[in-house]
Amino acid sequence: MIGIDIVDLSRIDISSESFRRHLLTEEEEQEYQQKRIDSRRREYIGGRFAAKEAIFKASGIQDVLSLSVLTGESGKPYVKDHPEIDVSISHDGGYAVAAAIIKEK
Ligand SMILES: CC(C)(COP(=O)(O)OP(=O)(O)OC[C@H]1O[C@@H](n2cnc3c(N)ncnc32)[C@H](O)[C@@H]1OP(=O)(O)O)[C@@H](O)C(=O)NCCC(=O)NCCS
Repeated sequence: MIGIDIVDLSRIDISSESFRRHLLTEEEEQEYQQKRIDSRRREYIGGRFAAKEAIFKASGIQDVLSLSVLTGESGKPYVKDHPEIDVSISHDGGYAVAAAIIKEK
């Protein structure tokens, strides 16, 4: 199964802790805190939002806090504890997009 999503980054309020608490797991929040530039912070959150929507479309998993979309060594995103899910994120021009594929077991 495959899922895709696009997020308008102007909708992302990086000053809202409550927004982040509803979207980011603790490990994602730690990665987020390492980003120092506001535009990168917006991209990071927008990318996670898009990734979790894409994963929902592909898998039906709706609990966003049950999924941690983290950054691997090369910078490639991965879903912790879900090796069956492949996810890819991109951002440019004020939008973030993500695609997710659930691999056959
Ligand atoms: C790392 C790279 C893929 C990022 O691409 P980009 O166009 O600069 O940035 P994008 O907005 O499209 O993508 C950024 C996202 O890519 C993902 N990403 C980063 N490194 C990655 C990698 N090695 N593999 C897969 N995805 C990666 C991340 O999710 C990142 O977002 P995040 O840091 O917020 O999680 C790119 O800089 C790169 O190194 N490309 C090498 C390939 C190349 O030389 N291509 C040129 C031919 S056109």
